[in-house]
Amino acid sequence: MAEFTLPANSVVKEGKSVKADPNAKNIKRFVIYRYDPASGENPRTDSYEVDLDKCGPMVLDALLKIKGEMDATLSLRRSCREGICGSCSMNIDGQNTLACTKAIDEIEGDVAIYPLPHQRVVKDLVSDLTNFYAQHASVEPWMKTDSPTPPDRERLQSKADRAKLDGLYECILCACCSTSCPSYWWNSDRYLGPAALLTAYRWIVDSRDEATGERLDQLEDPFKLYRCHTIMNCTTVCPKGLNPAKAIAETKKLMVKRRM
Ligand code: SF4
Ligand code: SF4
Ligand code: FES
Repeated sequence: MAEFTLPANSVVKEGKSVKADPNAKNIKRFVIYRYDPASGENPRTDSYEVDLDKCGPMVLDALLKIKGEMDATLSLRRSCREGICGSCSMNIDGQNTLACTKAIDEIEGDVAIYPLPHQRVVKDLVSDLTNFYAQHASVEPWMKTDSPTPPDRERLQSKADRAKLDGLYECILCACCSTSCPSYWWNSDRYLGPAALLTAYRWIVDSRDEATGERLDQLEDPFKLYRCHTIMNCTTVCPKGLNPAKAIAETKKLMVKRRM
């Protein structure tokens, strides 16, 4: 049987352990992935005991408390702290999600926190999303038209056509879905992944867009679209409750329909 071993410098080691104030009564332990590629050192997990009586309710609150009061070297992204910007996506308790909307009390035992899986790590919890953003740009996520713009008003859309965009336009580009998709893990250089495909579909079904055929042509490719095998991890993890797998399935249906 084939045996695989990790290169010695990629083995995650146990790091330091930072204790809470001995008077604290409501302690939770956060075990956090730490890695600085510039240091030449192996990745490690550091653990921090947080006094929950002096901490906000969300995982992001705990991370900011750790960074602010216990270890300023911890790196993470965040901005809005209300599930809108998509910056604080990471793997918490084994699932990709947003740290700012994940409540600490939903997690039993220690809280394990890792960066989004299968992406290059810039530092600690900060993943390199360059490829993810380039794929988003590649679907040209803006309205394309040939007809002249009406001189005195917007391009109008019926209420029914506008409703077709619900469940699509709300994507915050957090990358939780794409980085939880096994097909994306193995083929992220050629498979666009659920987030980019959800956005592609958002423009395909927009009644005002006049490049539907061109958009479908762009996706007619064995890898870009058809590497989705309906595993559904994307839909399970989306913190905004969106359904990228359905958007992908609908796009595939349109591909079939236009050939008939
Ligand atoms: S449904 Fe498709 S895109 Fe979603 S996780 Fe599965 S393979 Fe990936
Ligand atoms: S579809 Fe959901 S999980 Fe995927 S990038 Fe958009 S908001 Fe994040
Ligand atoms: S900080 Fe903006 S989504 Fe979490």
